[in-house]
Amino acid sequence: MRHSPLLFGALGLSDVFVSAASTLLSGGTIIAWDDDSNYLEVVRDGSLLITDDRIVSVNKDPRPSQLPNGTTVVDVSGQIVTPGFVDTHRHGWQTVYKTIASNVSLAEYFNRYGEFFAADKFTAEDVYISQLAGLYEAMNTGVTTLLDHASHTWSNDTSYAGLNASVDSGARVFWSFAFHNITSLNYTISEQIPLFREMAENKKELLRESPTELGIAYDSWGPNTSVGDAQEIAALVKEYNVSVMTTHSLAGPWGISNLPTNVQQFGILNGTTPIVFSHASFITADDVSLLRSTNQYVSITAESEMQYGHGHPHSYDYQDQTALGIDTHFTYSADILTQARLWLQSTRLHYYEQVLDNWKVPTYSPMTVNQAFILATRSGGLALRRNDLGVIKAGAKADVVVWDAENSPSMLGWQDPVAAVIMHASVGDVLHVLVNGKFVKKDGKLVSDEYPTIRKNFLKAAKRIQDIWKSLPYPSYDVPYPSSGYSYGTPETVDVQRGNDTGYGTLFLI
Ligand SMILES: *[C@@H]1O[C@H](CO)[C@@H](O)[C@H](O)[C@H]1NC(C)=O
Ligand SMILES: *[C@@H]1O[C@H](CO)[C@@H](O)[C@H](O)[C@H]1NC(C)=O
Ligand SMILES: *[C@@H]1O[C@H](CO)[C@@H](O)[C@H](O)[C@H]1NC(C)=O
Ligand SMILES: *[C@@H]1O[C@H](CO)[C@@H](O)[C@H](O)[C@H]1NC(C)=O
Ligand SMILES: *[C@@H]1O[C@H](CO)[C@@H](O)[C@H](O)[C@H]1NC(C)=O
Ligand SMILES: *[C@@H]1O[C@H](CO)[C@@H](O)[C@H](O)[C@H]1NC(C)=O
Ligand SMILES: *[C@@H]1O[C@H](CO)[C@@H](O)[C@H](O)[C@H]1NC(C)=O
Ligand SMILES: *[C@@H]1O[C@H](CO)[C@@H](O)[C@H](O)[C@H]1NC(C)=O
Ligand SMILES: *[C@@H]1O[C@H](CO)[C@@H](O)[C@H](O)[C@H]1NC(C)=O
Ligand SMILES: *[C@@H]1O[C@H](CO)[C@@H](O)[C@H](O)[C@H]1NC(C)=O
Ligand SMILES: [Zn+2]
Repeated sequence: MRHSPLLFGALGLSDVFVSAASTLLSGGTIIAWDDDSNYLEVVRDGSLLITDDRIVSVNKDPRPSQLPNGTTVVDVSGQIVTPGFVDTHRHGWQTVYKTIASNVSLAEYFNRYGEFFAADKFTAEDVYISQLAGLYEAMNTGVTTLLDHASHTWSNDTSYAGLNASVDSGARVFWSFAFHNITSLNYTISEQIPLFREMAENKKELLRESPTELGIAYDSWGPNTSVGDAQEIAALVKEYNVSVMTTHSLAGPWGISNLPTNVQQFGILNGTTPIVFSHASFITADDVSLLRSTNQYVSITAESEMQYGHGHPHSYDYQDQTALGIDTHFTYSADILTQARLWLQSTRLHYYEQVLDNWKVPTYSPMTVNQAFILATRSGGLALRRNDLGVIKAGAKADVVVWDAENSPSMLGWQDPVAAVIMHASVGDVLHVLVNGKFVKKDGKLVSDEYPTIRKNFLKAAKRIQDIWKSLPYPSYDVPYPSSGYSYGTPETVDVQRGNDTGYGTLFLI
């Protein structure tokens, strides 16, 4: 047992500049990370000292005697303090679509909402405000780091718009430029490459002091790839040492493989760049071995994989190389807490069923709340190869959430803070959120002075986009699914009413 008041203290007070801004979150129960045991460590009635963008110390004492001059003390006694959640897959530009496709399938998504379909319908202003409002939505729920597969790269202007919105939001966005041929606008990869170079070369000025970073997204690693394009993009990954490369990986009847074996052919799988595979629904055993030996990660987007039907039949079995993501948040939850809870219960059911299938009665629960918590936080940091994200420890980035565990009726009576958050909290219980040491939510409210204006502009853009979509036809499925050549099949639909039911119904859109 350590007796120092600086429980995990690596940085001494002498490292703290006199002019630096310090905050002490005082008196809460902190779900910290202990590198020695490589596990969560709960500190009750402790405190968290933050200076600038970093956590300086996790203290057992709610009010350490030595604090940097001018430290602001925020009383969080009775509350639970966790790292911010890490979302390893999303498309921020889609926020303006909200509620217009609550029943969407993946086939319908590709034909009505996806990046190729939307390309000629969004202006740069739509992209900017949709991305920005979506990032506020995420931070409000306690998501502080997001890997954005930025597929709104339809012109130089829409590309900059999404990047600028990410920077302006104050969230920690791994903004990943998607390379794709947008034939409807003649905007091809060969034109996108000089734009990306321009962004990478002016990174300092563009990203300013924000926590946003530059990555690459690409969905044509193969098979059936355009080898020249893939080689050029792999070369960019290396040349600019981007913060992450991410790709949609489905395989099976979906096509769109982009599995580790496909990416490996281009020499970037075992380099310094983290590679995040989204979904990997039909991953093979060989690909899982390759993920492990190269220490790369899959983003499980639990809710989207259930909504759309990509499924995740193998994701249960290699959770040591996975983190959680959200994906197209316009049609379901935009928060990682919900993903963690859904995924935990889905995993439990999956392993229980293996026992039940043999007509036996399960004893143990297959997965714990601690594991779900780690997937939502630390594992996301590891997917990005960032030991300083998704954890509360000395030296980590100060991305922190304070839960109103003192006052929330749903958390009343808690002992185990991890269970309180994973099983009982809702995003409405998120009291404070800090990103990079700055409060973005305080006392239950977003702090930005600009949020009322953002809201107003967002509603205007959402109306414009939703009006366009109202007049667009729904797809028909008379030719085979193009990405794989498999034919479409119609699932049985549910009837929830007896007798003369109203059936499936329509969407309540205006
Ligand atoms: C803190 O402030 C006091 C009084 O203003 C000053 O005497 C002291 O040197 C300061 N300490 C540090 C570490 O800056
Ligand atoms: C794309 O290029 C073709 C051939 O150059 C041209 O006919 C077409 O009008 C262009 N489309 C757009 C949207 O610029
Ligand atoms: C897009 O930006 C790139 C890089 O500056 C430039 O080469 C290209 O001409 C621009 N395209 C348009 C249409 O402005
Ligand atoms: C993006 O921000 C840069 C400054 O960082 C500015 O020069 C540029 O005009 C902005 N572009 C768009 C499309 O908002
Ligand atoms: C992929 O390539 C193979 C052989 O090169 C070809 O037979 C097949 O039709 C292609 N599949 C798709 C979906 O393009
Ligand atoms: C993009 O389009 C070019 C032709 O404009 C083609 O040569 C290339 O194969 C395409 N790349 C992808 C990934 O589809
Ligand atoms: C690439 O970036 C990583 C992470 O920031 C860093 O550790 C590594 O040294 C960089 N590699 C090169 C060649 O710059
Ligand atoms: C990746 O690199 C590590 C360390 O150099 C090595 O142990 C591992 O075998 C490599 N894996 C592959 C698939 O190349
Ligand atoms: C069900 O609907 C049919 C057709 O509208 C009608 O003839 C029948 O009386 C209804 N039955 C009941 C139980 O309401
Ligand atoms: C969703 O609902 C709309 C409107 O009722 C319908 O046209 C569409 O086909 C439905 N989508 C799916 C995938 O069932
Ligand atoms: Zn996606």
